[in-house]
Amino acid sequence: MWKGRFAKATADLVQQYGESISYDWRLYKHDVNGSIAHARAQVKAGLLTEEEFSSIEKGLREVEAEIEGGNFAFSIELEDIHMNIESALTKKIGAAGAKLHTARSRNDQVATDTRLYCREEIDALTGQLSELQSALLAQSAKHAASVLPGYTHLQRGQPVTIGHHLLAYVEMLDRDKARLADCRKRVNVSPLGSGALAGSTINLDRQQIADELGFDRVTTNSMDAISDRDYIAEFLFAMALVGTHLSRLSEDLILWCSSEFGFATLSDAHTTGSSLMPQKKNPDVCEITRGKTGRLYGNLVALLTAAKGLPLTYNRDLQEDKEPLFDSIDTLKIALAVNTEMIADMEINVDVCEAAASDPLLLATDLADYLVKNGVPFRQAHELVGLAVAESVKTQNPLDQLDLTSLSEHYGADAKDVFDLQTALAARTNPGAPSIENVKSEVARWQTSLDSCK
Ligand code: ARG
Repeated sequence: MWKGRFAKATADLVQQYGESISYDWRLYKHDVNGSIAHARAQVKAGLLTEEEFSSIEKGLREVEAEIEGGNFAFSIELEDIHMNIESALTKKIGAAGAKLHTARSRNDQVATDTRLYCREEIDALTGQLSELQSALLAQSAKHAASVLPGYTHLQRGQPVTIGHHLLAYVEMLDRDKARLADCRKRVNVSPLGSGALAGSTINLDRQQIADELGFDRVTTNSMDAISDRDYIAEFLFAMALVGTHLSRLSEDLILWCSSEFGFATLSDAHTTGSSLMPQKKNPDVCEITRGKTGRLYGNLVALLTAAKGLPLTYNRDLQEDKEPLFDSIDTLKIALAVNTEMIADMEINVDVCEAAASDPLLLATDLADYLVKNGVPFRQAHELVGLAVAESVKTQNPLDQLDLTSLSEHYGADAKDVFDLQTALAARTNPGAPSIENVKSEVARWQTSLDSCK
């Protein structure tokens, strides 16, 4: 493609070192669509005839079908997807193919392709996030009223319901979707027409091209447009944060499925055995998800690092943007799919959760609140209940069995009523708190909101 200036062919090792076709082939559909839009603008500018355009379009669609069907011979001498497609087109249709690259560079071409690719994948991931939310929501609806200890520092804290716990993840995933939607706004801008770095002396209708490709607008600085990759970095960050959320969910489930907790049982289809220990049923999906989150972070850091030292404008370092991007998307797509299935099939062991939540210590805070309602300042109430807890630990007598009235004049005979779990939950009615009524209405709210995403 640049033979004019060179007397010697590129060395084999350089070709191997610099090729990107082994991975950027997957941009082919967007490359073809971008080229067709570009060619149509060339017709409007009087650079191509309608006949030439038709043969370009037909030729590109044929190339696309060949790639789709696995019948295209990619060549590493042609470095990347852009040159592979252009060369195949010119072989097919001759002279008209050689006109296609007028007023265009691989620099604006690759930025266009990756933007179209990111846009499509953002939409796909958003759909998958909704599916995982729906699986979590179905479990939340089923267990809106099943009690569970809530933890801080992995120590039992206060009672919640399983529905409330799982809806926390529905919230996280919703913010992940919002982050993707926001990132999509900056992704969906057309750089085509920015050329190598300084536009072109041949003016094509950039807005027409953008409209045809479904972009919201055109970029406004050619140097920025071809050399920044912040839209990819943002997308990688949004995916890394989904990874964080999935990893936390995984960790919860790993704990829940241990004999020590016993709160949940994953289906045989989503667990694995041990080659040595016959009794084992391991939550590998959760562990793999937790482990793969590291890759998602690594991919983000790889791109940020590749971009940070680059002077304007395009530098070949930027070719390193694609593998991290593809890897994060692949990693996240399968993670979301398998986690959705696994959550849908998970059994919650309601009795075990309830037994764990019946520990009266979970209501120590409620006892302090009881004292506060009787006029005791909170700090003093906290200390009084702390003394009662110490007494319970020392005498091995559960907190709800102690004679509280003998410990302080502030406890009345009704202090014991605090230890009714249902009353305690029912009192948590403020927005965001886990009263069963609240959880049920949150389930209903999410159901409506997720139905509207379909
Ligand atoms: N394969 C290249 C990339 O991914 C396309 C752009 C090449 N541009 C260039 N001037 N060599 O970045």
